[in-house]
Amino acid sequence: MSAREARLDPPIQPGETDPVSDLDATGRDDGTVFPQSVASGGPTPSGVLLWTRVASDARDPDEPLGVEVAPTPSFDDPPLRREIPPERLHTGSDYTVRVDLDGRLDPDSTYYYRFAYRGQKSPMGRCQTLPRPDASPDSLRLALICCQDYQNGYYGALARVAEDDVDFVVHLGDYIYESAAHQYSGLGSERYRSIRLPSGNDLASSLADFRKLYRTYMSDPHLQRLHRRHTVIRTWDDHAVGNNRYWDYEADAPVLPTHPRGDDPEFAARLTAAGIQAWWEFTPARVGYDPDADHLHDAFELYRAFSFGDLATLVLTDERLFRTPPPGAGTWRPGWFGGRSDPDQTMLGGDQRAWFLNAMRESETTWTAWANEVLFSPFQVGVGAATLRPKTDSWDGYPLARERLARGIESDATSNLVALTGDLHSYLASTMPTADGAADERRGLGPEFMTPAVTSVNLTEAVGLDEGVVGRVAGGIVSRVARAMNPHFALFDSSRWGYSVVEFTPEESSYTAYAVDKTVDSADASRSVVARLRVPTGGVEPRPMERRSG
Ligand SMILES: [Fe+2]
Repeated sequence: MSAREARLDPPIQPGETDPVSDLDATGRDDGTVFPQSVASGGPTPSGVLLWTRVASDARDPDEPLGVEVAPTPSFDDPPLRREIPPERLHTGSDYTVRVDLDGRLDPDSTYYYRFAYRGQKSPMGRCQTLPRPDASPDSLRLALICCQDYQNGYYGALARVAEDDVDFVVHLGDYIYESAAHQYSGLGSERYRSIRLPSGNDLASSLADFRKLYRTYMSDPHLQRLHRRHTVIRTWDDHAVGNNRYWDYEADAPVLPTHPRGDDPEFAARLTAAGIQAWWEFTPARVGYDPDADHLHDAFELYRAFSFGDLATLVLTDERLFRTPPPGAGTWRPGWFGGRSDPDQTMLGGDQRAWFLNAMRESETTWTAWANEVLFSPFQVGVGAATLRPKTDSWDGYPLARERLARGIESDATSNLVALTGDLHSYLASTMPTADGAADERRGLGPEFMTPAVTSVNLTEAVGLDEGVVGRVAGGIVSRVARAMNPHFALFDSSRWGYSVVEFTPEESSYTAYAVDKTVDSADASRSVVARLRVPTGGVEPRPMERRSG
């Protein structure tokens, strides 16, 4: 059995509409029974995965969990009802539950759902199925979010996304940070929120620590609102386990380079397995997960693809579990100048790379969107012989792997590739280079749109220049310098936080970047447009539609 087949619960069978007495309950949960609210993910043309978690101290070993799904929020039409047996609520998955509706819902449709347990109804969620593969949607709107360090700001941006008219949300990673001591936060972040881990350590060191992090993050009302309103397609990045992690193929073990015990292969493997388990427990996603696999590479298969009729394919890759060490890893020597010396370097690993190129080849939709965790475009600092590539944790650290992948994409003639990227805590739009390095208005692999961090530390905050007028001036200078050194950039801004929305139509793709005030804990946090860019079909270079700062 493959990892992908191993752990999905059996779909609800046709005709199964169990009467569940608790669904007639009138109580509305105040967070005592469903402290992390509800969520949906894993959309298909005929279903979604619904998710909730029951508080451990609310659990009754004899009580089933009820769930109902209906096409209207009034639940007036006879809803689909289902009973989850009590034994499915257990400590082995931290009392999280997923319900697979694949095969039960109509394509391209909105549904409403809620759970019921011990006389209390959960908040109502809304979910969305995919269009049929042969449908021709007029547009596809995806909100992009990533990097939501709970200890470095509030989630007003997520409340804004909740209210946006988008079809799906794509989360590009760093849903949690493995930190309880503001390690990855900006100066003065103590004014925000704190977390205490069960281990008492500053960095997550166990499954219990990761579970505590997910439970804490998902207790945020704005994050809950986002999950109730939209079906979220999620990937991961390094902080789901440990900062800047990679795989050491010689030791055949993961390395967590900034964790105090991260170079102990046995510990790093154990912690990676724990991070994967917690991700799986708290993420409704149709991924492969086999905790009994002999090797971690066989335990978790995150990479997958979605199609939105004939308009767009969305391909997600895992750029952490299989990557070789970046240049300079394990030494005191920065890898800023190098990365071309290792012919065996890989970002995706052999199997995933073959799968990815096959998905590129088989994509017959107008657009092929790639949820690509880390920056693909080169990011240079300096000029001429003094040029550095400071971001060796991105594709810049893997130039041969990037070149080989670009060559594969070019030879497959992938239609209208657009990369959707996170990780750098910045707004960025650029033209990705071809295998021979061309990136201008006529030649390139396609546009790359980076969504900013929701809250995580950005460049100007990292150097303490994020406040008021100083922040705006510093941010402007950084933007201009970065664009001057990187002529393939159409946009660079690392002075604000927020999210972005990409829209695909048969004629063009567009990217709208928003800044949202992270310093106030409010659903009404102020929002402004940072940039709007577009690329027509057949184009590779993002061009501004309009530009105004806020
Ligand atoms: Fe991040």
